[in-house]
Amino acid sequence: MTELRTAMLSTGIAGLDRMLRGGIPKGHVIAVIGTYGTGKTTLGLHFIYEGLKNGENCIVMSFDEDEDSIIKSAKSIGMDLERFRDNLKIFRLEAEEVRKSLSRIESDLFEIISGFNTSRVLIDTVSVLETLFDEGGRYKMLATIRMILKSAGVTAIITSEPDKYNPSYSKYGLLEYICDGLICLKMIRANEMEEPTLGLEVVKMRRVNHSRKPRPYTITDRGISVFEEAEIF
Ligand SMILES: Nc1ncnc2c1ncn2[C@@H]1O[C@H](COP(=O)(O)OP(=O)(O)OP(=O)(O)O)[C@@H](O)[C@H]1O
Ligand SMILES: [Mg+2]
Repeated sequence: MTELRTAMLSTGIAGLDRMLRGGIPKGHVIAVIGTYGTGKTTLGLHFIYEGLKNGENCIVMSFDEDEDSIIKSAKSIGMDLERFRDNLKIFRLEAEEVRKSLSRIESDLFEIISGFNTSRVLIDTVSVLETLFDEGGRYKMLATIRMILKSAGVTAIITSEPDKYNPSYSKYGLLEYICDGLICLKMIRANEMEEPTLGLEVVKMRRVNHSRKPRPYTITDRGISVFEEAEIF
């Protein structure tokens, strides 16, 4: 059997790279799903910062935080984004604007991404955007974003919220089908009185023989650490 060898991009989180047997395959568009405060933005920033340190051009598109806030969040976990101003573009997008003119945004985004010789893209988060479309429109919007990222040849992370009752599924059950990979960040409680444990699960990663078991992780002033050999309880 011939093995398909794709280059892997380090996520910048050693334990997660080990769970992924190397990192995210180049050209993959993956989803990171988690409730508020589970570290979606932080994980995305690790991925971007790793690229910047390698001399890659990276783009952050944020529906949540403006440029200043992203730079501050990164600084609080020891990442100096300002050092890489020439290789980094940060955009704040308005969900309502994207909804109103998807086709204009489509051409703008493609131009921005392909014109910058971009290697990595973070889109954080599509949650509000998802709520603004009906079911058909939502699928079309996510498929459009995927198509832009794929045709620009970048490796990308899209963050979103999970389903209220099942943290392994996206809120609308679409993103996991649109994306090549899905990583879930979960807050797991033994009981309501205990401090929650954070658990990371690689639910899907096309063409990777990844670990499936949820593993504990922490967020500190150095960012996310994944303990890929530890048990959650
Ligand atoms: N410098 C830091 N030191 C310690 N913990 C931190 C630090 N920065 C962030 N955290 C922890 O990480 C959490 C937030 O991480 P992050 O913003 O990446 O989550 P998120 O999933 O993007 O949240 P949201 O859905 O609100 O955008 C904080 O609530 C805090 O618990
Ligand atoms: Mg966030």
